[in-house]
Amino acid sequence: MFEAYFGFSGTPFSRDIPVKELLDRESGKELHGRLNYVARTRSFGVFTGDAGTGKTTAIRRFCQELDGNCYRVLYLSDSALTPRNFYWETLHELGYEPRFYRSDAKRQLQKALAVLVDNERKSPVVIVDEAHLLTREMLEEIRFLLNVRMDSYSALSLILVGQTELRETLKLQANKAISQRVDMRFHLPALSREETAAYIAKHLAAVKAPGEIFTPAAMGVMHEYCEGIPRKVNKVATACLMAAAGGNQKLIDDHLVRVVIESEFEG
Ligand SMILES: Nc1ncnc2c1ncn2[C@@H]1O[C@H](COP(=O)(O)OP(=O)(O)OP(=O)(O)O)[C@@H](O)[C@H]1O
Ligand SMILES: [Mg+2]
Repeated sequence: MFEAYFGFSGTPFSRDIPVKELLDRESGKELHGRLNYVARTRSFGVFTGDAGTGKTTAIRRFCQELDGNCYRVLYLSDSALTPRNFYWETLHELGYEPRFYRSDAKRQLQKALAVLVDNERKSPVVIVDEAHLLTREMLEEIRFLLNVRMDSYSALSLILVGQTELRETLKLQANKAISQRVDMRFHLPALSREETAAYIAKHLAAVKAPGEIFTPAAMGVMHEYCEGIPRKVNKVATACLMAAAGGNQKLIDDHLVRVVIESEFEG
């Protein structure tokens, strides 16, 4: 176990790194401000970024930090989301038993949102992750939701989160009605060289790593190869840690990183 070899308190570079241990990026702070704006003004936001750049993680943080007394988050992450599932999942999350027919479930959701807003004084924030995979049919439904958003009783914040192709999808003529309604857009960039180094340090600090493990040159090679994509950095860093522990090497230099990339990722 490389964790024991390096004296870590847990497994670094994992997906469930606690929110308080996340790297604070400049772009992350800007995103946070924009997402808060969407929640506050009950508007419509589209948040994109390449695969593995940290969108779901940023949303996880945003949801945790939103004031639960004022907002009710309905988070959906279903790569095959159908309108029926959409109504079913949101109603379930709100504690309702969804009606069988889609049209009934739709009305039921509108009523449930009205209860939330009027009785509980909470703003609904609907987040649809993996939105680059939405079907035509689901996009039509989104258009409907955006229209009913105008009714005061069903006013909700809607945030679509997806990979870069979501931007392209929304540019299509057929989706003009949706894209014209977007109030906030944000595209999460990859990490810069300095951010990749800070990212690695942050994940190691989260497991109480004692001392230096990756040399600056090693982190430089990792950045080039991973192109600043956190998920790729996780994979390469973990492979390097395993190789180093196996070879009884406490310090990971650029040479070792190159060997690991060559043998495990480029083979
Ligand atoms: N700010 C951060 N601090 C620390 N780790 C992070 C941060 N952002 C992302 N990560 C790490 O990067 C990994 C990938 O992030 P995430 O799953 O959020 O990407 P994504 O953009 O949602 O990818 P996909 O497009 O495939 O859905 C996470 O598992 C997490 O380990
Ligand atoms: Mg994601």
